Amino acid sequence: MHCPVLLSEALDGLQVGRGGRYLDGTAGGGGHAAALLQRLGDRGWLLALDRDAEAVGRVRARLAPWGAAARVEQGNFADMDVIARQCGWERVEGVLLDLGMSSDQVDAPERGFSFMNDGPLDMRMDRAQGRTAADLVNRLDETALADLFWRLGEERGARRIARAIVAERARAPITTTGRLADVVARAGGGRRGRIHPATKIFQALRMAVNAELENLEKGLEAALRLLTPGGRLAVLAFHSLEDRVVKQTVGRHVPRWESLPAGGRRRLGLEPPVRWITRRPLRAADEECAANPRARSARLRVAESVSAS
Ligand SMILES: C[S@@+](CC[C@H](N)C(=O)[O-])C[C@H]1O[C@@H](n2cnc3c(N)ncnc32)[C@H](O)[C@@H]1O
Repeated sequence: MHCPVLLSEALDGLQVGRGGRYLDGTAGGGGHAAALLQRLGDRGWLLALDRDAEAVGRVRARLAPWGAAARVEQGNFADMDVIARQCGWERVEGVLLDLGMSSDQVDAPERGFSFMNDGPLDMRMDRAQGRTAADLVNRLDETALADLFWRLGEERGARRIARAIVAERARAPITTTGRLADVVARAGGGRRGRIHPATKIFQALRMAVNAELENLEKGLEAALRLLTPGGRLAVLAFHSLEDRVVKQTVGRHVPRWESLPAGGRRRLGLEPPVRWITRRPLRAADEECAANPRARSARLRVAESVSAS
């Protein structure tokens, strides 16, 4: 079962206590969603989305006790404003995004997210969607693979690892997580500290397969369009690439003022305007990190939509 990270901090940030309509764009195991509904009581509604059909099934069952107050749909959070409108929602009081993969996904070897359990090299969150990690590993040329590992994994040995993969796949296509992890471990020169050398390579492939940064940028824009003035957006990121997209995409909506040569000033920044509630990302306390290792890398940012004036 997935253990939600920075749970009360995220719900506090969303000001769930005031009630209204909330959207959870990453339902996962339903941990944040259930706690949000609990806090809402009979003062509001939740629409929960996930790209992963299996997650949707699990969360539907988990949220069933809330009846019509909770609705769970399969969908990409990049389209959350369209999906919300299809559900009859024009505006929401809060949007939550808890990025990355859930423990349910990582722990299922057949999903191919983990190098700890051998399984098919898949990594698609939405299994109806086309390209798998095996497609990328076996079809991209060496330069494109190296570029991917460098860009999305920040892997310093990107070229060396790409070369080793291309040599290995010439013998037979690489179709399992175990075989890829072995190739990377041999090319990467063993463990660096506590981190397995395949960690960054698997992260890069997962992000590419699911177009995670592109969806994140679109999802943040969609969330800001959906928020009612005073509404809140809370985003949990788990590595610097994600956090940078959150900071920059939302940051472009924070108004700045430019003095005009002829006097006066004009406002710069995208519509709708927002303000940061968190000046710096919130991190999990030591106790939470000890209980849930995933919390160690979590960064929570919260922004509020402000009325245009
Ligand atoms: C970290 S888990 C969420 C866990 C959840 N907050 C909980 O408490 O159980 C992230 C989930 O987001 C989903 N996801 C990732 N990208 C998505 C996207 N673009 N649209 C919808 N769901 C997405 C994944 O399938 C995964 O189930």
